[in-house]
Amino acid sequence: MYLLKVVAASIFISCLAFAHPTTEFLAPRAVSTLDDVTIFTPPSTYSIPRTLYARTLLLETDGDETDVLLATWENYSPEPPYFPIYQSTDGGSAWTEISRVTDQVNGWGLRYQPFLYELPSQFGGFPAGTILCAGNSIPADLSATQIDLYVSTDKGLTWSFLSHIASGGVAEPVNGDTPVWEPFLMLFGDEMIVYYSDQRDPDHGQKLVHQTSTDLLTWETPVDDVEYDVFDDRPGMTTVALLPNGSYIMTYEFFGAPEASFAVYYRISDDPTTFDSVPGQVLRATDGTIPTSSPYIVWSPVGGTNGVLAVSANSDSAVFLNQCLGAPNAWTRVATPESASYSRNLRALPDGILLITGAGVLSGTDNSVTTTSIDLSSVTLASCD
Ligand SMILES: *[C@@H]1O[C@H](CO)[C@@H](O)[C@H](O)[C@H]1NC(C)=O
Repeated sequence: MYLLKVVAASIFISCLAFAHPTTEFLAPRAVSTLDDVTIFTPPSTYSIPRTLYARTLLLETDGDETDVLLATWENYSPEPPYFPIYQSTDGGSAWTEISRVTDQVNGWGLRYQPFLYELPSQFGGFPAGTILCAGNSIPADLSATQIDLYVSTDKGLTWSFLSHIASGGVAEPVNGDTPVWEPFLMLFGDEMIVYYSDQRDPDHGQKLVHQTSTDLLTWETPVDDVEYDVFDDRPGMTTVALLPNGSYIMTYEFFGAPEASFAVYYRISDDPTTFDSVPGQVLRATDGTIPTSSPYIVWSPVGGTNGVLAVSANSDSAVFLNQCLGAPNAWTRVATPESASYSRNLRALPDGILLITGAGVLSGTDNSVTTTSIDLSSVTLASCD
């Protein structure tokens, strides 16, 4: 669609140029959004829910290449499962499979909760632009969970095992069982942080923790990010974004929240390794909506100096936008054409475009992987007064 608009504009300009050879025209700003692109339709050989939990990556370190995206998801293929890597070179309209991240060490497959990350700068002996994939390796009988890290130094074409990050017990979200879940990577200074959900502490049904590494091979002991006094409370599913004033914002779902079951909560901290020392608050939109379950947060530089924060949640096709650095009274619920999905992914693209990618709902019988985008610069948001 981007290409069509540019071609149409240049035909228009050359016609006018023929009639008025001395007139110069500037090409209009070419911003286009994606409407209901299907990345992958699973075959019937896949087990239900077939696909879930999409993740995307914009390759940002290559200068001119501003339109290359990768996508992956939980892929319920015949055993052993793997994380498919699909690539788009046109900003998300067309996708092809370029590789598979397969389990190279456990013999279990890579089953749940993939996460893709591009090194923004040289780190751990790898150059900027190296791609990391973290995910949960789990055997077919779900008897163990293992968050592992893989690396690609060729933009996602080939993958190598790097390290085991965290080991847990049976892959059931039952309090008293001891799995680990849902890794999220973020470079912070000279440390890589991996955030994840942790059921191994006997004092907490589930809590949120992180570990750090300076070489991507060895990982420091877990540090709490969110834990509540009530054993049955289950904070889960960390995602984090950097605010333009240097602070960090994390979202999580909170089973046990007084406002709603699995209400989306957030915390703001100057230091992304000390979220445990700052208070959490519920995300409540100006229309009263409290989104619930599997949130995802990103920040886009669009608009003013604050940019725009965007949050997705399982409960809603809409997104929740905030141009006031997360001020509690300034979350606006904004409709999107992308249907609600479990752990739906957001990605801030250039020109104020927000990419929204889903792979279906829990227990869904006709899940597929789809993506859509909206133009953040065209929406009206609550002001910051
Ligand atoms: C950034 O803005 C947030 C939201 O207003 C605030 O809580 C935080 O303290 C600010 N950080 C800095 C470093 O000023």
